Amino acid sequence: MPTLDQSYVTKGSWRPDLFKGKVAFVTGGAGSICKVQTEALILLGANAAIVGRNKEKTDAAAKELEGLRPGAKVVSLSNIDVRDVKQLTEAANKAVQELGRIDFVIAGAAGNFLSDFTHLSSNAFSSVVNIDLIGSFNTVKACFEQLKKNKGAIIFVSATLHYYGVPYQIHVGAAKAGVDALSNALATELGPLGIRSNCIAPGPIADTEGMSRLAPGVIDQVASKVPVQRLGSKQDIADATVYLFSPAGNFVNGEILVVDGGAWHIGQGIAGAGYPVNVKRNQESKTFKL
Ligand code: COA
Repeated sequence: MPTLDQSYVTKGSWRPDLFKGKVAFVTGGAGSICKVQTEALILLGANAAIVGRNKEKTDAAAKELEGLRPGAKVVSLSNIDVRDVKQLTEAANKAVQELGRIDFVIAGAAGNFLSDFTHLSSNAFSSVVNIDLIGSFNTVKACFEQLKKNKGAIIFVSATLHYYGVPYQIHVGAAKAGVDALSNALATELGPLGIRSNCIAPGPIADTEGMSRLAPGVIDQVASKVPVQRLGSKQDIADATVYLFSPAGNFVNGEILVVDGGAWHIGQGIAGAGYPVNVKRNQESKTFKL
């Protein structure tokens, strides 16, 4: 079931057809956050191509997205691994073949799990860096000609984990720090071509794969630590996305828009009350991964 419906347009802050004639290319577009970002763009008139590894999941999401607005076109590009720039380039070419152009790129494909340093293998670390960071780079590579032609815009889905030291998230923190650096440098290099590059850094967002992977069983506790006293919603991230792609965001370039209710200013992250005992327990356990 889609999270948003027509009331997003009729009662929301955005005018109908804001993105009419535009096309979005979204990696991770079947995933919890990026799918709702895409929903907002579709409801506001855009068409989209969503990229994923899993065929069933990606096809089902594309079908659902297409049903959101009469006349909407959504292309499912599955069996694509963002670590492979060739696969992504073929996907971008297919999107252009089917939808005519690409204006907006969301690099949202990501991998995550909880692991302390002693149990995080070198291969595990590089898997996440390859998906999150190299995958983001590859996405822009694959879409560059279209972005240049259409004076498009890029949004990277980042995080706040690297603003301070968050245990169990060495791999993701390192990858997302790289994503921020990538976006900032692209903003300066591609700005003269008319292409804007920004990041959205979501905090704890309800009903997402990230929250269920990273904070199982302690979601209420996490919400109580957020200054605005709630978890974020996927619509909060969709709204930030619309802002950055809309004419309202036209002069915003090289920005990292944190959407977290002020959570990262409090620190602690997912270490929670058990820190540092939980980390020490892991370090003392007998298995050590290279
Ligand atoms: N703790 C520690 N290490 C882990 C792990 C965990 N929970 N899950 C996977 N790994 C390790 C594997 O053991 C492997 O390392 P090894 O070869 O040294 O044993 C390495 O990570 C790669 O795992 P593999 O499953 O082969 O890689 P993959 O490319 O198929 O998967 C992941 C990538 C690991 C990021 C996987 O979790 C994934 O596909 N995630 C996609 C969805 C997702 O994470 N979404 C979250 C969005 S917030």
